[in-house]
Amino acid sequence: MPPHTTRRFRGAADVDSPAPVAVIVLAAGAGTRMKSRTPKVLHEIGGRSLLVHAVTAAEGTSPSELVVVLRHERDLVAEHLAEHASEVSVADQDEVPGTGRAVQCGLEQVSASEGTVLVTYGDVPLLDPATLRELVGAHESAGAAATVLTARVADPTGYGRILRSPDGSEVLGIVEHKDATEAQRGIDEINSGIYAFDLAVLRDALARIGTDNAQGEMYLTDVLSIARTDGRSVHALVTDDVMMVEGVNDRVQLAQLGAEMNRRTLERHMRAGVTIVDPSTTWIDAEVSIGQDATILPGVQLLGATDIGEQALVGPDSTLRDTEVAEGAEVVRSHTVLAVIGAHASVGPFSYLRPGTDLGAKGKIGGFVETKNATIGEDAKVPHLSYVGDAEIGEGTNIGAATIFANYDGVEKHRTTVGRHVRVGSDNVLVAPVTIGDGAATGAGTTVRKDVPAGALAVSAVSQRNMEGWTLRRRAGTAAEAAARAALGSSDRSAADAPATPVADEHKEHEQR
Ligand code: UD1
Ligand code: CA
Repeated sequence: MPPHTTRRFRGAADVDSPAPVAVIVLAAGAGTRMKSRTPKVLHEIGGRSLLVHAVTAAEGTSPSELVVVLRHERDLVAEHLAEHASEVSVADQDEVPGTGRAVQCGLEQVSASEGTVLVTYGDVPLLDPATLRELVGAHESAGAAATVLTARVADPTGYGRILRSPDGSEVLGIVEHKDATEAQRGIDEINSGIYAFDLAVLRDALARIGTDNAQGEMYLTDVLSIARTDGRSVHALVTDDVMMVEGVNDRVQLAQLGAEMNRRTLERHMRAGVTIVDPSTTWIDAEVSIGQDATILPGVQLLGATDIGEQALVGPDSTLRDTEVAEGAEVVRSHTVLAVIGAHASVGPFSYLRPGTDLGAKGKIGGFVETKNATIGEDAKVPHLSYVGDAEIGEGTNIGAATIFANYDGVEKHRTTVGRHVRVGSDNVLVAPVTIGDGAATGAGTTVRKDVPAGALAVSAVSQRNMEGWTLRRRAGTAAEAAARAALGSSDRSAADAPATPVADEHKEHEQR
C-alpha cells in the first residue's frame, strides 16, 4: 500500500464552503455492459477518461485525502491514475462485494478520524465540484450523520429508492430496487450514490453491515438506516440536474453523456464570449481554452489541450488536437496535431500540420501543405502544395509552390535550414541536410543538394532547348499537330518539313525512359 501523506488538492476551492477531509471514489466494478476490453472507467468523453472526470470533480472540493477504490483491471487503472492524477491514492477492494465493502476498503487509506467524507463514483462524469461543495455545506450545517444526493426521475427502475418519513421531511433509509416492495418501487426519488458522511459514523456503521440481501453484497446504503436507528439525523439534497448524477453503464449512455458534456462545454464558451456558429456539429474537449471573440465555424473538433486565442477563426471542417492558435490567427479546413500557430497567421484550406510545426506570427501555410517538425518564421510563407519536414525557415521567406523538403534518405532524417528573406522557386527539392543562406534565391525546378551562400541564386535545372516542329513530325494526325499547324500558319513550313535530327531522336529516347 502506498505510504500515506496529507495534502490539499489544487482546484476551485471555495472559501465559503468547508472542504471534506477525504473523498472516496468507487471504481472497483467490472462494467460488463460496456462489452469492452478496456475497463469502463477508462473510456473517454470530452477528451478524458470517466475516472479522470470523477477525480477532477473530487479535487475541486480540496479534500485532504483522495482515494480511488479499484479491483477490476486494477493495474491498468492504477497506471492510468499515476499518469493523469498522480496525487490520488489507490485502495484495493477484496473479494467481498458491494459498495459498502468498497468504501470500507477505501477508508483503510484515510488517516483522519473525524470530519466529513464524500463518496462518489468513478463512472459519473458530469458531477461538478460546485454540487459536491453544496453537499458538504448542507451536510455540515445540518449536523447530519449522512446526507445523500438524490434526484426525481421518470424511470427509477434499477436505482435505490429514498424512504422518507410520512411528512417527507426526514430520510429513513434507502431500499435497493431488487429488495424493494411493489409500493417502494413506485417511489421516484432515487439514490445517486453520491453522499457526504460523518467519518466516525461511517466507520462504525460499516463494521456492522452484513450481506443479507437480494444480491449478497455489503450495501453502503445500509449506513443510512443504521445511523438513523442510532438516533442520528440523515438528510437528502435533491438535485434537479439528473444528467449530472447519471452513471455510464453501456456505450449508449457513454454517447449520451458525451453529447451532454459537449453541450455544456459549448454553452460555457459561448457565455464567455466565443461565437460557435453550429453547436450541433462542434465538439470541444473539456480542457480546451478559447479566447474572447474567437469564432468557431461548423464541423470543428477542438481536442486535447488545444488553446485558441482571442479573435481567432477556426473552421469550417477542421480538427485541432493539442494545438495552440494565437490571437487573430485563422485555420480553415485543416487537420493539426501538436502544432503552434502564431498571431494573425493563416493555415489552410486543406493542410495537415503534424507535431512540431511552429508557424510564426503573420506566417502562412496555404493549401495542400503538410508540415512536420518545422519552424516557419514570422511573415514566412509556404503557400501551395508543399511538404516541409525537419526544417527551419527564417522570417519573411517564401517557399515556392510544390516545393518538397526531402528530409529522409531512407535511413535517417536530416534538417534543412532556409535563412531570412529567401525566395525558393517553384517545384524545388531541398535535399537535407542543406542550408540556404539569408537573402538567397533558387530558380524554378531547382534540386538543392549543396548549401547556397547568402545572397546567391542557385539553379540546377539544365538549360532549355526547343526542338522546332517536333509535334508536326512526331505527332502527326493528333489534335496537337493540328493546333500547332494552325498557330504556325503557312509562314513556317520549314520546321515541319525538316528531317528528323539526331537531337530529336535523342529526345525520343529520353521521353521513353
Ligand atoms: C448503487 C446503489 C443504489 C444507487 C445506484 C446509483 C448500493 C447498494 N446501491 O447501485 O442505491 O441508486 O448505485 O447508481 O450502493 N462499486 C465498487 N465495488 C463494488 C460494487 C460497486 O467499487 O463492490 C462501484 C462501481 O464501480 C460503481 C459504483 O460503485 O462505480 C456503483 O456500482 P453499481 O453496481 O453500478 O451500483 P449498484 O450497487 O447497482
Ligand atoms: Ca451503476
